[in-house]
Amino acid sequence: MTAQGTLAPQAAQDNPLSVGLGAERRPMPFVAVIFGATGDLTKRKLAPALFHLHRDGLLPGSFEILGVARQELSDDVFRRNMEEAVLTFSRGRVARSDASAFARRFRYLTGNFDDPDTYGRLADTLSPPGAGKRAKGGEAPPPSRLFYLATPPSFYPTILKGLGQAGLEREGPDAFSRVVVEKPFGKDLATARDLNDVVHGVFREEQVFRIDHYLGKETVQNILVFRFANGIFEPIWNRQYIDHVQVTVAESIGVEGRGGYYEEAGALRDMVQNHMLQLLTLIAMEPAVAFDADSVRNEKVKVLRATRPMTPESVRRNVVRAQYGPGWIAGDPVPGYRQEKGVPDTSTTETFVAMRLFVDNWRWAGVPFYLRTGKRLPKRSTEIAVQFKRAPHLMFSHTATPELEPNVITLRIQPDEGIVLKLGAKVPGPQVKIRSVNMDFLYDAAFASESPEAYERLLLDALFGDSTLFTRHDEVEAAWSLVTAILDAWEREAFAALPEYESGRWGPREAHDLLERDGRHWRRP
Ligand code: BG6
Repeated sequence: MTAQGTLAPQAAQDNPLSVGLGAERRPMPFVAVIFGATGDLTKRKLAPALFHLHRDGLLPGSFEILGVARQELSDDVFRRNMEEAVLTFSRGRVARSDASAFARRFRYLTGNFDDPDTYGRLADTLSPPGAGKRAKGGEAPPPSRLFYLATPPSFYPTILKGLGQAGLEREGPDAFSRVVVEKPFGKDLATARDLNDVVHGVFREEQVFRIDHYLGKETVQNILVFRFANGIFEPIWNRQYIDHVQVTVAESIGVEGRGGYYEEAGALRDMVQNHMLQLLTLIAMEPAVAFDADSVRNEKVKVLRATRPMTPESVRRNVVRAQYGPGWIAGDPVPGYRQEKGVPDTSTTETFVAMRLFVDNWRWAGVPFYLRTGKRLPKRSTEIAVQFKRAPHLMFSHTATPELEPNVITLRIQPDEGIVLKLGAKVPGPQVKIRSVNMDFLYDAAFASESPEAYERLLLDALFGDSTLFTRHDEVEAAWSLVTAILDAWEREAFAALPEYESGRWGPREAHDLLERDGRHWRRP
């Protein structure tokens, strides 16, 4: 990781279990410019994340946040909105006085994204006379800038070009200019390539941070630590010992008023192309020579390139899609997808996908990776289960082992974050009876501290210029290449009706068939 910044004082929250973990660094002074500052992402994620970084002493003394959006707002009203956002959406309790002091860091600029004048005014705001120099009687505003594209994706090219035309991508000897691009990055391979071209027409790749918030989750980062900071797992992490891998990203929520967006996306684009393929790369990649942006991402890209491409025929055999119908979640009745706001009643958009993938390389040849994700499943649970082969010979009698299951390592990404190893153990008593038991590592118990939100980590990394946890241009294209083959096959396929699953159930029958055909079954998270 790059070290650009200064040392912060002793970590703000003294946690005895973190003692000895080292002092924190701080980035250089900056202005964060958020395009789409009146939207949901700013309110729910970005403002609270910046607040926590600030409160934990991880930001420099001098920084500002400039919101840009179409709506006419005064600085004062915008600050009050941000104060409320911090109070409402922060993790843990926040005092109003802290939220209000933090909100004074915000300013607001009204502007249409497709009006060149917006970028001229932005440049003036960012570089008033004296910027970068120490002005008499005070410090000039910090010249480094982090642009954050939190608008609907159709504005990304316009904003990127606007920034370029105003020369805002230029960096100084002590000032960076970086851009964070939210997902979705394109809607298929061709549009992702086009967007990469626009991005690279303005910014160098090192200045670009394509965000996938899953990579900011502590438990996702821990996949690499688990695999590569421990000597005992890597030797068995391959086709000789592993029978198959299951990746589940289950949500109990529906589309939550985002019907319009979801209709354009569907589960494959919304969850598989980004979050799930990222999990796959971390589970399957080779050890990198160093934990830095290029080394790690080189290995991740290789996994995507080794993943067997789909043909229309293999899509039919290996990919299941379905849509939720009405049902029950946690005892309450919920509507079906086609009854959601903004969704036409003829919609064929998938809210569930299950698939079988193969990574064709020496480590993984022949090992199936089963992925499934869906909305309105019985519970929220993201986990990766690595199932090992059975012991080659059991010296115990059959009557001793009916309850013995194969070893499984489950990486619980959320909730109940932790890692579980399932192993066989003798049931106490005079006879030999063997049963599967769990050995647990739980984050809560081991670290006794709340994990930061993914956006906190990612914003801080972007401020440091560390893109290890962001998606590189070739990585995003490799992921789209796999997904676009499925989208194309679906487009050509005439189907009478999309399979439907009752809300509150683990997807359609076809998803279970996908594994049962191989003599396996989905784990119950
Ligand atoms: C987003 C998707 O990227 O991830 C949402 O657009 C989904 O549809 C969300 O609900 C899930 O994120 P998390 O962090 O709650 O697992």
